[in-house]
Amino acid sequence: MRQPLADAWYCVGQARGLAGRCLRPVALNGEQIVLGRDAQGAPFALRDRCPHRGMALSRGPFDGDTLMCPFHGWRFSSDGRCRDVPTLSEHDAADFSRIRVQPFPIRESAGFLWVNPHLGPSGGDVPAVPALDFEPAGSVVVELEVAASFDLTTLSLVDPGHVAFVHDSWWFRPSKGLREKVKTFEPVAHGFTMASHGTTKSSPVYRLLGGTPEVEIEFRLPGARLERIRAGARRVANYTFATPLGPNRTMLTNALYWSSPALNLLKPLARPLMRQFLAQDQQVLQHAQAGLDRKPTMVLFGQGDLPGQWYFRLKREALEAARAGRPFANPLERRELRWRS
Ligand code: FES
Ligand SMILES: [Fe+2]
Repeated sequence: MRQPLADAWYCVGQARGLAGRCLRPVALNGEQIVLGRDAQGAPFALRDRCPHRGMALSRGPFDGDTLMCPFHGWRFSSDGRCRDVPTLSEHDAADFSRIRVQPFPIRESAGFLWVNPHLGPSGGDVPAVPALDFEPAGSVVVELEVAASFDLTTLSLVDPGHVAFVHDSWWFRPSKGLREKVKTFEPVAHGFTMASHGTTKSSPVYRLLGGTPEVEIEFRLPGARLERIRAGARRVANYTFATPLGPNRTMLTNALYWSSPALNLLKPLARPLMRQFLAQDQQVLQHAQAGLDRKPTMVLFGQGDLPGQWYFRLKREALEAARAGRPFANPLERRELRWRS
């Protein structure tokens, strides 16, 4: 239960920049993976480990067709099959056609690459990869590595209680007092949403959009927070993804997309603010992780902590469904929550 879900799609970085003959090493759930694109432009993901002596294949050249291990020159195609062992004599009967590097399923969506690190048969009922339902005129992406567990980091994505204390920047939360909040939550496939509502427009960020913004926030396993904002014809999506890199190493990726070209003017402003926001989470999560390392227990208390409890219930259900080979059955019910923030 403390491990991240095995059979799930995780964000492994931006799709942009992965092109031509470039290879990109990434970490995912303790695994080292090399990403690239084949000659047709399709992305691939292979275990970043040559079967011969363990060399990182991302260190070698890629000619658009095969990756060459820089240690003894073995070549592998993008599906992981060994295509050549150049040191083999014609008179050597050894057959390299059965040597293979482990491939991983990979997808591309919302400007990101997604890898499912699960080995072995998939249960088939895996949460969908986050997508965008409008054509963005622009976007900003910020990534920050957090020295905290995947669960602790993912909890912060569904934790209304920390906002007033951690994210208290003037531009996000100008009023300092705690106010009563009442929100309705509904189960959706592999997660839950906070139902769409007209916001108070109290935040300068929302005010910039004009109109009366409607906001809907979805949480979806394994660790995606999808905030969709609609103000008149304008659309903004604020997506945050947690990716387990290894034990107590989690990547937080925040992507902001907008539909209106006029908002491109705000791009230079958005990036430092998003970075500041994510760094606030990073700081507090790292200190909390140090406390959990000394004693790994939490108290989930009051209605403000119910979304955190729901995260663990969803995760447990996903594990049990996978183990039993049955479809995922969302255990949550529609419910109104009250808290102060
Ligand atoms: S380690 Fe890769 S070819 Fe020898
Ligand atoms: Fe936060």
